[in-house]
Amino acid sequence: MADIEKKPVKIVETILRDAQQSLIATRMPTEEMLPIIDKMDQIGYYAVECWGGATFDSCLRFLKEDPWERLRKLRQGFKNTKLQMLFRGQNILGYNHYADDVVEYFVQKSIANGIDIIRIFDCLNDVRNLETAVKATKKEGGHAQIALCYTLGDAYTLDYWKGLAKRIEDMGADSLCIKDMAGLLCPYPAVELVKALKEGTTLPIDIHTHYTSGMASMTYMKAVEAGADIIDCACSPLSLGTSQPSSEVMVKAFQGTPYDTGLDVEKMTEICDYFEPYKEEALKSGLLNPKVMGVNVNTLKYQVPGGMLSNLVKQLSDAGQADKLQAVLEEIPRVRKDFGEPPLVTPSSQIVGTQAVMNVLSGERYKMVPKESKKLAMGEFGQTVKPMDPEVQKKIVGDETPITCRPADLIKPQLAGFEKEMAQYKRQPEDVLSYALFPNVAKEYFEYRETQDTGIDKAKVKDGAYPV
Ligand code: CO
Repeated sequence: MADIEKKPVKIVETILRDAQQSLIATRMPTEEMLPIIDKMDQIGYYAVECWGGATFDSCLRFLKEDPWERLRKLRQGFKNTKLQMLFRGQNILGYNHYADDVVEYFVQKSIANGIDIIRIFDCLNDVRNLETAVKATKKEGGHAQIALCYTLGDAYTLDYWKGLAKRIEDMGADSLCIKDMAGLLCPYPAVELVKALKEGTTLPIDIHTHYTSGMASMTYMKAVEAGADIIDCACSPLSLGTSQPSSEVMVKAFQGTPYDTGLDVEKMTEICDYFEPYKEEALKSGLLNPKVMGVNVNTLKYQVPGGMLSNLVKQLSDAGQADKLQAVLEEIPRVRKDFGEPPLVTPSSQIVGTQAVMNVLSGERYKMVPKESKKLAMGEFGQTVKPMDPEVQKKIVGDETPITCRPADLIKPQLAGFEKEMAQYKRQPEDVLSYALFPNVAKEYFEYRETQDTGIDKAKVKDGAYPV
């Protein structure tokens, strides 16, 4: 192999974000991470994905932690390794579009508190929704990676992907990611996709997939051979299933080839040893359901992300209609077509899924239309790759005229208003951002924090239970 050019593949380690989000509902507390980050810092990962996505919400809502404090602690521990976060374009980490001033401030604070690489995506692949976040990232000196949400459908030709890659490069991104949230990318199509992207751009290409359909490590291998530069992997105890391929296995698989990562598997297994008991505990407590560890063939059949599938099952059984699952799964592709064939990723996956449930349960298509479906039909999430079905759109929006501009162009600055609303809770500048994204959850957390710091329940102070 001496005459073959060496092209070491880079590894992004996801155990602190996507792996734990996918397998254990993002419930890993900071204290579980801190004892091992010094060792993780010695490995030589290209980056550690550790923040954003659902981690922020989960910190505030379930773990009663300040997500900003988590980030600062991780930054302190990771002295050599780049920290990466996942960022939902104009939605930031929430489910609605925010004004540009909130997006810019969030980016600024993320980088100021320790993030190096911001992976930015939009659920419709509408690049207008990425512009503000990308510009802000560049302005703050960060690395802006744009992620394409990978999906299948008539509109998603190799030319489409190639064109998108070019636009992404033109926008000033530093790298590009193929984000295959549902594990739909098969090994051979991955070769074609990577080649097409390489025709459209010279940016480094990162592949992100999930093992849900049992395909992921084969896809990585073929994608790397085709020229992909970076692969997202998870430390073995929280790898496979709905998570990523195992970091250690991928490193081993490329050893002695031109793609050799140069990473030390022995050292990496020490990190596995650390997380193994945590995994065992999670299995015992039920936090980790063994079901999500296997191959889910329905993913290949229905092309819906694993998380979406489990949401549907829950929605239906809560409504006492578990027997309707098959009908809903068949309705999903139809709704998706009506809605202009969007990728299925938060929040479009919830919108399409919920609409399909309503169409089936109500017995008449689009008789019941949730607010979010209407917003999508009104163009308030941006432009879908194909136009919506005109009849369906008409049924949903009635006489209203959908917008065609970038949705955030219609949103006035919001920061000052949020500042005012939460002034009484503010302890650090970042608090306003927690509040902007998750107002009720943040407020509850702030109230909890007050009692923690003082040992005094402020509510009881008001009640006169304590002398003031
Ligand atoms: Co993912």
